[in-house]
Amino acid sequence: MHAIYKELKVEEFKSHQDLTVNFGEVTEITGDNAKGKSTIPESISWLLYGTDTLGSKLDPTPLTYESEQTLVQLLLSADGKDLLLGRGLKKGKTQYYINEVPSKSGEFNEIVDQLFDKDLFLSLFNPSYFFSMHWEKQRALIMQYVTTPANKEVLKNLPEEQGKHLGTLLKKHSLSDLEKIHKENKSKQDKKYIAAQSRTKTLKEQLDQLPKVTAPLESLKVELRQIAKQVRELEEHYDKAADSNREYTKVQSQIQAIQDQIDMSKERWPLLKNEVIEDTCRTCKRPLDEESVEAVQADKDNRIAEYKANHNELLEKRNVLKAKLAEMEYIDASETLEKIRSIDSEGTPLREAIQAYSQFERLQEQVNEAEKGEKSTLESLNDSIFVLDSIKAFKAKEAELQAEKVQALFTSLSVRLFKQNKGDGEFKPDFEIEMDGKPYSKLSLSEGIRAGLELRDVLSAQSETITPVFVDNAESITSFKQPVGQLIICRVVAGQELKIEGKDA
Ligand SMILES: Nc1ncnc2c1ncn2[C@@H]1O[C@H](COP(=O)(O)OP(=O)(O)O)[C@@H](O)[C@H]1O
Ligand SMILES: [Mg+2]
Repeated sequence: MHAIYKELKVEEFKSHQDLTVNFGEVTEITGDNAKGKSTIPESISWLLYGTDTLGSKLDPTPLTYESEQTLVQLLLSADGKDLLLGRGLKKGKTQYYINEVPSKSGEFNEIVDQLFDKDLFLSLFNPSYFFSMHWEKQRALIMQYVTTPANKEVLKNLPEEQGKHLGTLLKKHSLSDLEKIHKENKSKQDKKYIAAQSRTKTLKEQLDQLPKVTAPLESLKVELRQIAKQVRELEEHYDKAADSNREYTKVQSQIQAIQDQIDMSKERWPLLKNEVIEDTCRTCKRPLDEESVEAVQADKDNRIAEYKANHNELLEKRNVLKAKLAEMEYIDASETLEKIRSIDSEGTPLREAIQAYSQFERLQEQVNEAEKGEKSTLESLNDSIFVLDSIKAFKAKEAELQAEKVQALFTSLSVRLFKQNKGDGEFKPDFEIEMDGKPYSKLSLSEGIRAGLELRDVLSAQSETITPVFVDNAESITSFKQPVGQLIICRVVAGQELKIEGKDA
């Protein structure tokens, strides 16, 4: 937008009853104090917004003379197109005119808003307006026209590792989402890490309390194998002895059984030997004949012979077994058994040591697991810390680059866009414009004008908006750089009536 003022008509506006201004590239307004110089730019801000040049509500109704209707009309060229705007005030009611057509306030305001943003226009028109705004508005107005540095640009300027890591993460999430994710993970892993550390500590303490086994496991096993071998050999020996002793006792009990039979047989002998041969019948008591007596005798002889054969056979069997037993040997194995017990008991400490070993190994395995868990928690924790640090660095660098970018627009002014928190070192938006190390509020009138002109020129260039600008009280400044756009200079000249000269530069 390029706005050029052509002609201003002021009727019954404050001290001005009827005044016409024909603007040039430079318009010089001179005159003594209170001749109405400042009222001229004021009539323009009133026309557009109903305010003075600092944006405050203004009632321009004349106080020193009778007035019918206040009317301000400005013919301006907006991007080469003429536009005649008018605002009137009659009996407290406002009238609006667009190209002499009475219009509604909405239509009028719409036309004005389409020309330029109010804060931008007033900042460009009145060099002290910008500094009268709240710092957040000042900052927003400047930043509106300065693009923030691209992520890529910021990443490039970070330490390599931070830039690379954050660059990869930013492909998936925004910076603020990343910050949320890693803040949460950090506090989660912080807690987890503390728990993991105490678990490892507890397990290690348990490990320390286990009996120390100094001998290597393999040698313990070899020793135990040797003991087992000895025990096995002794047991074999013992088993053989036991087998053989079982055979011995078997023969012994066989002999005993035969001996019992022999003893019984011996008892029968006297009965048989002393058996009387009867010569009379037992029932009828008649003498038996010789033949019958002989038969009885023969029967007795027979039984005696049978008894003897049987008895001798028993004796013979016993003797055979006795001979067999004589050949056999009873082995005393109690010593072997004792030896087995004693050798086996030598294995007890070895078995205990091996048991302790496996307990140790199991616990060691748990310690390893816990340490692994601890390590991965720490890694995740450190990663989040690294990302959060990188985000902080990113924001700081972004702020720095943005500040540089803004600063590059100025020549004598220095601009601060951020302030760093004392606690967490975060960069927070802030705004301060200084000239030669002094804030605007501390500048003299002429310094303030110079600062204001430099700032409005920057705004003009950045917003690609050219408007006229007025320098009031110009007598207090010896020289200043010609600003962009039409210049209206109000200067006091002692003893002089109001004089307005539009000059083409
Ligand atoms: N509503 C008003 N009606 C009439 N005169 C006014 C009104 N408001 C201010 N004035 C007077 O208008 C005169 C011009 O003021 P101003 O434009 O500030 O003069 P300058 O800038 O030339 O010193 C002053 O005398 C001031 O008191
Ligand atoms: Mg003045």
